[in-house]
Amino acid sequence: MKVAVVGATGLVGQVMLKVLEERNFPVKELIPVASERSIGKKVSFKGSEYSVITAQQAIYKQPDIALFSAGASTSLKWAPKFAEAGCKVIDNSSAWRTNKNIQLIVPEVNGKAIRKEDMIIANPNCSTIQLVMAIFPIHRDYSIKRLIISTYQSVSGSGINGIQQLNDERCGKNSKLAYPHCIDKNVLPHGGDFLQDNYTSEEEKLKFETRKILNTQNIGISATVVRVPVQDCHSESVNLELSKAFKMEQLISSLNKMPGLIVKDEPENNIYPMPANCADKDDVFVGRIRRDDSIESGLNLWIVADNLRKGAATNAVQIAQYLLEHKLI
Ligand code: A2P
Repeated sequence: MKVAVVGATGLVGQVMLKVLEERNFPVKELIPVASERSIGKKVSFKGSEYSVITAQQAIYKQPDIALFSAGASTSLKWAPKFAEAGCKVIDNSSAWRTNKNIQLIVPEVNGKAIRKEDMIIANPNCSTIQLVMAIFPIHRDYSIKRLIISTYQSVSGSGINGIQQLNDERCGKNSKLAYPHCIDKNVLPHGGDFLQDNYTSEEEKLKFETRKILNTQNIGISATVVRVPVQDCHSESVNLELSKAFKMEQLISSLNKMPGLIVKDEPENNIYPMPANCADKDDVFVGRIRRDDSIESGLNLWIVADNLRKGAATNAVQIAQYLLEHKLI
């Protein structure tokens, strides 16, 4: 495969290169793309250096598949041009996720929704990916009625500027602010832009994308997105109301069978998922699994995953692998 990575110099683009290499994706030719200001810069892949080129130059090279993580406006402009040239695009930005004709995919959950004719496939938001990985088997078995989620999102979810602000604040330096307030020693109940109803764009993404991936409008969802001073991994506290009664053992057994999901739940040994033990891993981790006795068929979960890996790069590469394995390319 000729594989283009659009945004190859960025935070997620760099992890995409790493994951392509780790998974031994059959890359015959790597085509790294970034903005005009990075032309000629080098990126490393499998021990070799590759020069960064422009999106237009990349199209001339006729890539088979392009992984995009270069922001929504780049994606809106360039993804259709790559697609027109016969290249399958997997896009990590928010540009195409709400488009009715574009599939929003987490392979373990709804890989089957990909059709051969899909030329652009959207990669969901990081918080949505780890949420649906954990709730999919529960929804399939017990039909979720209502879901309340509070996130504890790391600064790498805001790109390099988020990491820079946290690190600068930790060593007392002034920095360009990625957030409207300090993030070190602080917690911001604010991710994305505020909308008219006082929810934020990130909260809206969680609602919309979860329903689209699970292919239902019938789940009530209420979300609060919070930014915390952690570099990598988003954590989520999730309260579920199920339509059917459940036996805890059976429910945990379904979670254990879900590919890509690891149950880490030994309260007696203080074992539960945390950013410190989930960073740089491709799996999603779930723990603190408890019945919520305040409602009928209620459940609490704590979900952690590396937002740059399963939340972005790994999921995109898995979609590419799925296309290959199912002869959709
Ligand atoms: P560059 O490094 O030249 O700015 P991040 O998500 O870490 O901010 O990274 C964004 C990525 O998207 C970077 O690789 C950036 O390249 C790339 N990018 C930004 N604008 C464009 C564009 N117009 N065309 C191609 N790549 C772009």
